[in-house]
Amino acid sequence: MADKDVDSITGTETTGHEWDGIKELNTPLPKWWLYTFYATIIWGLGYYILYPAWPWLSGYTLGVLGYSSRAQFVETMAAVDEGRVGWINKFEQLELTEIAEDPELLQYAMAGGRSIFAENCAPCHGSNGAGAPAYPVLVDDDWLWGGTLEDIHTTVMYGVRGDHDEARYSEMPAFGVDELLEPDQISAVADYVLSLSGSGTVNEDGKVIFEEQCIACHGEDAKGVTDLGGPNLTDQIWLYGGTKEDIVAQITTPRHGVMPPMGARLDDAEVKQVTIYVHSLGGGQ
Ligand code: HEC
Ligand code: HEC
Repeated sequence: MADKDVDSITGTETTGHEWDGIKELNTPLPKWWLYTFYATIIWGLGYYILYPAWPWLSGYTLGVLGYSSRAQFVETMAAVDEGRVGWINKFEQLELTEIAEDPELLQYAMAGGRSIFAENCAPCHGSNGAGAPAYPVLVDDDWLWGGTLEDIHTTVMYGVRGDHDEARYSEMPAFGVDELLEPDQISAVADYVLSLSGSGTVNEDGKVIFEEQCIACHGEDAKGVTDLGGPNLTDQIWLYGGTKEDIVAQITTPRHGVMPPMGARLDDAEVKQVTIYVHSLGGGQ
């Protein structure tokens, strides 16, 4: 190894290493860099003393501040819960209309309702209530069971044709299977139903059958009877499809839509929030 000497061009000492005539300069670290480095070491030592740091077999050094991220988490959650209790109490005590008229509560209900809906209702009613065949759209103002806050609340709480005593209930008779009407009568009344929403001409035989057999649940004007869940047949909004085959099928072997009582799964405050959310989706009455 060559001796250390001073490089004649830069005036800097060399390290004494030399490869093929190339010598390495021993440039000192900049002072600012060195002191920052020492400062970080001291800072780091401070952390070891103040905070939990070194693990050992059955635990770790706790640090003189006694800090614990778990304790902090528990504390934060307790504060959040305490805040929630205040809201929930209000939701439990106030009427739906009172909640809907209070801007702050309304905002809370909308945010809560949206996530409750996404989790509990969207699998059947589609995301944001867009509906699906046999599952009603909740963003229009066409209601099977009524679209006031109170109506929606009852539907959500107890469900439809499910196993709750207060579930909404009605059943369209099976006119075909139970031989209440002949196939040609079913065809005639289906034509009449189509004409109600503007397709085809009025079938006079069908009209007579409709007046005898159908208006009890679908209304004299065929615009629906919400007490019985009888759909409006004049608006081109179809639960089970609007072709002649679909309508004949419904008259022959009707389907009876079932919605579970959501009150069994959600608490009172949650049912109120999701009710207000659905009511606001577009078609609330
Ligand atoms: C398992 C599927 C299912 C789930 C989950 C479900 N629904 Fe329904 N819902 C239905 C069906 C089916 C109907 C139509 C019942 C009928 O044919 O009368 C319905 C009807 C409704 C109606 C009445 C619509 C009208 O036109 O009157 C409302 C409101 C409603 N659901 C809201 C909700 C909300 C809010 C939730 C979540 C908290 C929810 N539903 C969860 C299947 C479901
Ligand atoms: C006892 C009450 C009742 C009577 C009577 C009744 N319906 Fe219905 N109807 C309903 C109900 C309730 C529904 C909705 C079923 C559901 O939500 O699953 C329905 C649904 C329908 C639908 C499907 C609507 C859609 O949006 O897809 C058609 C079409 C229909 N009825 C036609 C008739 C005709 C025609 C008659 C007479 C021959 C008749 N109904 C008699 C209760 C009745």
